[in-house]
Amino acid sequence: MSGINLKGRDLIVTQDWSLEELLAVLDLAVKMKKNRYGYTDALKDRSFFMFFYNPSVRTRQSFECAATELGGHAQFLEPKSMRLKTATTAGETVEDAANVMSRYACGLGIRILEDKIAQYGDGEKLLREYAKYAKIPIISMAHDTFHPCQGLADIMGWIEWLSPENQFNPEAVKGKKLLVTWAHGALARSWCSVQEAMLIGSRFGMDVTVAAPEGYDLDPQVLEWTKKNCENNNTVFETTNDLKDGYHGAHVVYSRNWMSSNAYHDGELHKQEEVDKALKYTDWICDAEKMALTKNAIFTHPMPIDRGNEVTDEVASGPRSCIYDVAENRLHAQKAVMALTM
Ligand code: CP
Repeated sequence: MSGINLKGRDLIVTQDWSLEELLAVLDLAVKMKKNRYGYTDALKDRSFFMFFYNPSVRTRQSFECAATELGGHAQFLEPKSMRLKTATTAGETVEDAANVMSRYACGLGIRILEDKIAQYGDGEKLLREYAKYAKIPIISMAHDTFHPCQGLADIMGWIEWLSPENQFNPEAVKGKKLLVTWAHGALARSWCSVQEAMLIGSRFGMDVTVAAPEGYDLDPQVLEWTKKNCENNNTVFETTNDLKDGYHGAHVVYSRNWMSSNAYHDGELHKQEEVDKALKYTDWICDAEKMALTKNAIFTHPMPIDRGNEVTDEVASGPRSCIYDVAENRLHAQKAVMALTM
């Protein structure tokens, strides 16, 4: 991976990075996974700031462990305790906050999800504004549109599972079919994780099928990028409203709930409407019967899983589930991103 220099780069969506850059991250992540405590000088004595507008288990824990294992420290910050200006409250501007924090920290991670914004895209705007003013890398820790660290951990896990003889080989996912299927449930989840999965899967040469009931279309820009990525790789991109069609021939099944394309209206998220609507689609669950239609697919999910709604226990805890490996890979992928960008 010579010639790749990621120093100072923001990570807001993997689509912003070249395939070679993404491969450089995975290459280092794999080395870091094999030699977990061999990189303790990479961020020695340095601090990484983390803004959590929304709660987290994996993201907070994996970033804190990552900073520790690189010799640095991750500082947890809740924006509500910081007097920052928002769309509805007076306070410090992003320009001032970003400039000052750049004098302290080596990087800034931000998580802002569906219920902390008035309309889809506002979280992305906030991250881009921080990126404009900050002199340090801005890393998405999941925002309304994308979850790039999750995407890197996903593809790393899929490659691990699909590579022959445990030899990590990114070519192993080429031509393999990724099914991203909507699932019912009461969470009205944001689009960030599934959109990131579609983008990174298609960048790495996978066929991508997105299955969802009518009304659950994702961001048209992301669908277009996924289609373009597939065209560039001579692979297939399909969408379907059918519950089972997408399972045929799939190698990776990603079953997750997401909110409908009408979730935001009148300047806010209508979560209860979304929940009431989604709970009617009880057939939209990943189960053994549907997995039997696949090519012995692995089951993937970014977690936390809504068991019994998104997927049955039998599949989520079954022999073809890669969920814990993917969750572990958050740590290794983020360490690699931090070491390379900061
Ligand atoms: N996958 C993920 O981002 O998990 P958390 O919400 O627990 O951080």
